[in-house]
Amino acid sequence: MEEKAKKSTFSSQFGFVMAAAGSAVGVGNLWRFPYLAAKDGGGLFLLIYLVPVLTFGFTLLVSDIAIGRKTKKSAIHAYEEMNRKWRALGVVTFLVPVLIMTYYAVIGGWITKYLTVYLMGAADAAAEDGYFTSFISSSVSPVVFALFFMGLTALIVYHGVEKGIERVSKFLMPILLVIVVVIAVFSLTLTNTDDTGVTRTGLQGLTFYLKPSLEGITAQRFLQILLDAMSQLFFSLSVSMGIMITYGSYVKPQVNLSKSINQIEFFDTFVALLSGMMIIPAVYVFSGTEGMSAGPSLMFISLPKVFHAMGGVGVLIGTAFFLTAAFATLTSCISVLESIVANCMDLFHASRKRVTLVLTIIYMAASAVITLGYSVFYLEVKLPNGTVGQLLDIMDYISNSVMMPFISLFSCILIGWVVGPKWISDEMESSGHPFKRKRLYNIMIKYIAPVMMLILALQSIGVLNAFLS
Ligand code: PFF
Repeated sequence: MEEKAKKSTFSSQFGFVMAAAGSAVGVGNLWRFPYLAAKDGGGLFLLIYLVPVLTFGFTLLVSDIAIGRKTKKSAIHAYEEMNRKWRALGVVTFLVPVLIMTYYAVIGGWITKYLTVYLMGAADAAAEDGYFTSFISSSVSPVVFALFFMGLTALIVYHGVEKGIERVSKFLMPILLVIVVVIAVFSLTLTNTDDTGVTRTGLQGLTFYLKPSLEGITAQRFLQILLDAMSQLFFSLSVSMGIMITYGSYVKPQVNLSKSINQIEFFDTFVALLSGMMIIPAVYVFSGTEGMSAGPSLMFISLPKVFHAMGGVGVLIGTAFFLTAAFATLTSCISVLESIVANCMDLFHASRKRVTLVLTIIYMAASAVITLGYSVFYLEVKLPNGTVGQLLDIMDYISNSVMMPFISLFSCILIGWVVGPKWISDEMESSGHPFKRKRLYNIMIKYIAPVMMLILALQSIGVLNAFLS
């Protein structure tokens, strides 16, 4: 009893929802979702994305959060409490944020750099060819920004769950939402005539984004889009990496979990849809359908050019955009560090402050090494998905593409077939509120999710593609 009384908690349901949404909303929403939507047939991708969010994403989110609240522990001890023999799954789950943390502050540092550049009035330089490459491949500046971002994250985590994480999330997330809505609406008002005399408008861009395109659709392509949607969803909801287990462990018993989970899902999906609305029409107006690129190059190369093409107002929009991106990345980075801190506090019976300090030193060193993966430690490794990656991509690939589907697969087996879904649904109903999608959850966790996870896991290690081709 005494130990429970000392356990940190979120002060309110709103605080919990904002912190969890803060973890969920990140670069996945800002640079991955719009790119996939543009690549995978616009509205077709949106339709294919929404079905798994409401079924599969919901199942994984419910599982993580309920495991956390029921056990009041982080991944390693939580899985151990569910079943002693499954402790190893907890350890593997813990390793995902351990790996992600090595590079998340690096991306945060890049965003902070761009925000600084826009604030200092040097936006023109950022739009020049080669700017991003020359920045990340220099050996001092990106390291300084990564260390700054890491330090800021650590400072917030150091202040604890309520005074650090919850307070910051409750402040940043509503602002983020407002900025994203404003830029998305602004994007629709854009219009531009290019050198060849072709005029494109934001509304045409919106049509391109929302209209389902069935061009060239085959069974194989449909499967590919479905897999894209599912792996996006995982990453986007921050599930199957122990983070939502940790956050769940801070939720008070009287909180309505079903309702909170609906709100988190809604927040994450809404921001993803709006990111598409702010980015796709803007890129379409100034660069046409060919302008959409993936990942970092969308955010750091294509968008600065789009902001530049907007003229004076582009500096303002660019600043607002990088501010949003910084908020989104900071709240996600906090959740990654918090889950490592929480596990280490459980493991070593040490205080938050001490654990945070030690981890900060370790991750400052790790972030520096990963940052230098584009200069001093440059290497090229061919990944199983056919792309060539540097250190950052390798860490990302191992944690997100390889480990997460396997963790989900085994978690579904553990919950569906070893401890039984009732273990989760009892927790969902323990506050006296109904668990509305209980039947759906039971079917998903036992039958559908494990099969989908197996397909995703096989694809991640290259087996499925080899089979299909
Ligand atoms: N959910 C975040 C996003 O969509 O960008 C990404 C993320 C956050 C991944 C935290 C991993 C993580 F531990």
